[in-house]
Amino acid sequence: MGEQRTGLPDFRVVPGSVVHRVLDGRRKDVMDLVEEAYRLHGRGRTVNPPSYFLRFPDRPSARIIALPASVGGDVGVDGIKWISSFPDNLNLGIPRASALLVLNDPRTGYPFACLEGSIISAVRTAASAASAARALAAQRAAPRRIGFFGTGLIARHIHGYLAELGWDVDEYGVFDLSDTYAESFAAQVLRPQGAPVTVHRDPETLIRSSDLIVFATTAATPHVVDPDWFAHHPIVLHVSLRDLGTDVILRSTNVVDDVDHVLKADTSVHLAEQLTGNRDFVHATLHDVLTGSFTSPTDRPVVFSPFGLGVLDLVVGAFVHELAATAGEAVTVDGFFHELDRHQSAGAS
Ligand SMILES: NC(=O)c1ccc[n+]([C@@H]2O[C@H](COP(=O)([O-])OP(=O)(O)OC[C@H]3O[C@@H](n4cnc5c(N)ncnc54)[C@H](O)[C@@H]3O)[C@@H](O)[C@H]2O)c1
Repeated sequence: MGEQRTGLPDFRVVPGSVVHRVLDGRRKDVMDLVEEAYRLHGRGRTVNPPSYFLRFPDRPSARIIALPASVGGDVGVDGIKWISSFPDNLNLGIPRASALLVLNDPRTGYPFACLEGSIISAVRTAASAASAARALAAQRAAPRRIGFFGTGLIARHIHGYLAELGWDVDEYGVFDLSDTYAESFAAQVLRPQGAPVTVHRDPETLIRSSDLIVFATTAATPHVVDPDWFAHHPIVLHVSLRDLGTDVILRSTNVVDDVDHVLKADTSVHLAEQLTGNRDFVHATLHDVLTGSFTSPTDRPVVFSPFGLGVLDLVVGAFVHELAATAGEAVTVDGFFHELDRHQSAGAS
């Protein structure tokens, strides 16, 4: 981070166009960064307090979440993601989620960058899902049939990161409440990959015909409740967190990103905790899987439920800021911090 006065960092803005350009073609780097963030988190080198949910009585489907966090180690950055989810935005023709990411200097506390956050959020979510998929698949056969349950922006990013794993995919499947979205995702995202694509008209056939299923819907309450649909023991990336009924959760191996975080906010695993009164059905964290200290049994489905840690946004955001600043593509806001003399107003002559 550059400095405009001794001890004072520059303040830079990084627009979405630059974030996109910086991250384009860097999926392997991002997966490495995200895995390193999980390792730091697993070793207690992060601070990641609970996310704060702002909800609105007059707009029950909408929310804005604050995710403050701090990352130690070589990364050394504090900050906060402020991310809105307004599902009805799709009717306006704009994405559901929008976000800012603020990075703070751990030495002075000063914010030194404000980045468009929705791309970073989608990318870190996808990289985390793909890391989990890679680690879990290494403990069983690599999936050859991949299913997308919910076909929005997050599903598109996850597909991009899964494709990076180099698996031989025989078949893709999709299901969405909206046939239009499912058809569009099949045509624009999946068919260019070459493997056959089936647009399913019911959720059961998608699940039964997929070795790996990505849940990326906006469902608020469980709607996939029959454990028999998972009798073939697939890998399930439960990114949208609230799709699976408690019977499905309790008959699966459950891997999470952070136990305390994910057992909140009426996620499916939170509902399972409320039903059983214990957390025994949570078997491991992703850190345990990545470090090889947990191997998931192959005779049950394995469900990865990531609450989404603010530390992931910070490591990816710091990476983007560094590259954007070096390339001269971050916009420095001169004079952003103004009253710098404690006893004299900045305008005083
Ligand atoms: N865990 C994390 O870290 C993390 C991070 C980012 C986003 N998310 C979650 O990912 C989800 C998807 O986000 P997005 O930006 O792609 O949303 P989006 O609105 O772009 O897409 C959601 C899609 O799901 C479909 N859908 C909704 N309910 C469905 C149902 N019951 N069955 C089938 N399809 C259904 C919608 O028609 C839509 O096409 C959201 O729930 C979001 O909160 C999780």
